[in-house]
Amino acid sequence: MLNLSPLGFGVSGAHGTPLVRRTQTVSLIHRAARAGVRVFDTAPAYGAGEAEIRLGLALKSLDRSGLVISTKAGLTSYGLTGRRRDFSPAAIETSLTASLTRLGVEGVDLLILHGVSHEELSAPLQNRLETLKAAGAYQALGMAGRGLSLDEALEVGWFTYLMTPVHPFLDEDERAVLARARAMGVNVIAIETAGDAPASPRTLRSMADLYPVFKHLHGAAHGRGRIGVTEGLRVALASGLADTVLFTTTRRRHLDVNLSVAEAL
Ligand SMILES: NC(=O)c1ccc[n+]([C@@H]2O[C@H](COP(=O)([O-])OP(=O)(O)OC[C@H]3O[C@@H](n4cnc5c(N)ncnc54)[C@H](OP(=O)(O)O)[C@@H]3O)[C@@H](O)[C@H]2O)c1
Repeated sequence: MLNLSPLGFGVSGAHGTPLVRRTQTVSLIHRAARAGVRVFDTAPAYGAGEAEIRLGLALKSLDRSGLVISTKAGLTSYGLTGRRRDFSPAAIETSLTASLTRLGVEGVDLLILHGVSHEELSAPLQNRLETLKAAGAYQALGMAGRGLSLDEALEVGWFTYLMTPVHPFLDEDERAVLARARAMGVNVIAIETAGDAPASPRTLRSMADLYPVFKHLHGAAHGRGRIGVTEGLRVALASGLADTVLFTTTRRRHLDVNLSVAEAL
């Protein structure tokens, strides 16, 4: 069982782009780690590997023991909006091997199949994953998904971690799946805790603020609702539905506010 912290830091979004300097990403990761954050999540799809490189740079001067480093496989990004999915055994192995190189580690603590569907969970994939685990490339397996895919993932029984939205706008069925997962001993890693509706446009104060504008233009135009980020973290941490609650930020001020939310509980 991984030693999860209540809050986890996502090295994603603008951290995979030149909108944020690498030194800034590294400094935020170090500050979060010093404050007791143990979970750091990233993915090859975040900036086509750039976010993993940044987490790897930060790890060079951190004590790895006690940290939970999580990355994903199955989804890669290219260009500004391109996404390619491939859950074949060869693609997963190639992806994980490249992630380990970028992160500068021999193995990650958690490997998440990024948006995998039930049909993609083949026996050859299972065999390859077992081989990779036995070789030390990862310790625990999770899946990132939402809705019906969570139910299916629980049925298959491959995963001990689910990465999924946890916010006040979930319906009863969605809450029931999360409760069922936890009752089965499957850990829930919460994302999108402020809700599934897009954030309102905000005043541009830094280059990093261009990233949400870009996402807004290319993302979903609707959702069920949205609350403030800190309120979302507070609600998710207190919900009893999640073992770890992820957030991301490019700002030290937001990092400190978010850390204080967990301390106050
Ligand atoms: N597996 C998946 O498919 C998947 C999908 C989504 C997310 N994730 C993971 O979950 C992590 C969190 O993602 P999320 O979607 O839940 O993002 P989030 O933490 O809700 O962050 C969204 C935005 O909120 C801003 N923010 C952070 N703290 C704030 C504060 N105290 N006050 C005001 N604004 C604040 C950040 O911008 P500033 O830079 O301005 O602070 C950030 O860009 C990601 O990093 C990733 O690791 C995984």
